[in-house]
Amino acid sequence: MDSIIVTGGTPLKGRIQIAGAKNAALTLMPVTLLSEEPLTLTNAPRLSDIKTMSSLLGSLGTEVTSMQGGKVIALSSHGLTSTHADYEIVRKMRASNLVLGPLLAREGQAEVSLPGGCAIGARPMDLHISALEALGAEIELRDGYLHAVARKGLRGAVIKFRFASVGATENALMAATLAKGTTVIENAAREPEIVDLASCLRKMGAQIDGDGTSRIEIQGVDRLGGATHQVVTDRIELGTYMLAPVIAGGEVECIGGRMSLVQAFADKLQAAGVTIEETADGLKVRRNGDRPRAVDVTTEPFPGFPTDLQAQMMAMLCTAEGTSVLEEKIFENRFMHAPELVRMGANIEVHGGVATVHGVKRLKGAPVMATDLRASVSLILAGLAAEGQTRVNRVYHLDRGYEHVEEKLGAVGAKIERVKEQ
Ligand code: EPU
Repeated sequence: MDSIIVTGGTPLKGRIQIAGAKNAALTLMPVTLLSEEPLTLTNAPRLSDIKTMSSLLGSLGTEVTSMQGGKVIALSSHGLTSTHADYEIVRKMRASNLVLGPLLAREGQAEVSLPGGCAIGARPMDLHISALEALGAEIELRDGYLHAVARKGLRGAVIKFRFASVGATENALMAATLAKGTTVIENAAREPEIVDLASCLRKMGAQIDGDGTSRIEIQGVDRLGGATHQVVTDRIELGTYMLAPVIAGGEVECIGGRMSLVQAFADKLQAAGVTIEETADGLKVRRNGDRPRAVDVTTEPFPGFPTDLQAQMMAMLCTAEGTSVLEEKIFENRFMHAPELVRMGANIEVHGGVATVHGVKRLKGAPVMATDLRASVSLILAGLAAEGQTRVNRVYHLDRGYEHVEEKLGAVGAKIERVKEQ
């Protein structure tokens, strides 16, 4: 396994190209299962999670061809050979559960392993299950697998979520495109990745209204065709690199970035004293003064502050002037980066879902351990501002969601290298 070594103290200058969104690509890839016609995704990110989804789809009989070094993925599911999503793949990546809705809609059955808990929380699937049951599926848990059948096909229904789950909205939306009649999803997730999914499905012939709002209406169709679709910009990668010059000093232009993707996050950066300029190519970010100011943050579903930027924001607030309070409302256990940041000299107290960060002048480099994807990158960001060397171990988490992080940060002047773990 690799480690990343960051030597702090160098201000950054230059441009960083933001990739296509991991979480959009991971829901767009299973869309192939809904149609016999080819689906081509452009602007795909080059990540290990994408390889995992490719293996899963391959195991179901989808032909997956990676082109242009992985930026283009061609998918064809004209002849599916299996409806079984195996534990060995699902346990590596929870997003594997996104094959459930499409398999059920196209094949009338699916056996998908329950993913189990993960580092950031228990993450149950009850909302996915109740949505598909509302569409007429019968679902049973046996031997750790969800066995779902819809012998007479799915039929439209009203689905009301008690919480606006991203994955459950995606599974319900994909399944409803081939259900008989009208489906209404109430309290639907509004994330840009849902809008991207709906726009791809529409290109294939699906009839969907209201994506991007809490009420999505779908008129089922008999079949879907093929499409070519460009994956939306990764708003989490964007936010991560927007924080780099705030932490290290300097100025970075994030190419492909748009304010509408990160408005709630950008509002907090501006409140912390950061300048964000919209340019022809993206967003240019500059810290004003020596240290940003403390701000309070509460994570919420989109359009609120994203949980996937909470760890990176905490890394920034460690050296802000004043005390910040961060409240995590989406996952019950998403502060594992806090004790690692404390090893670097940060002053953080965690009580349940609330972390209080008392800003210090400087962090100090240390060996630290990455426990999940966003935690890993938060430690790299912290390392940019720390005195001396920070060694982030177990970076396989990082490669799940950030392509070539050392090249992207290295190109704007960061002292960062990847080494083999000792
Ligand atoms: N939840 C339930 N029951 C369900 C589904 C979800 O209780 O049936 C709970 C979860 O346990 C969690 C909350 O609802 O506490 C939010 O979960 P959601 O379903 O919205 O999240 P997800 O679809 O599993 C996606 C992203 C996550 C991101 C969340 C929230 C993908 C592949 N993953 O997960 O991304 O944090 O939405 O925005 O789209 C990441 O990229 O690092 C990551 C974890």
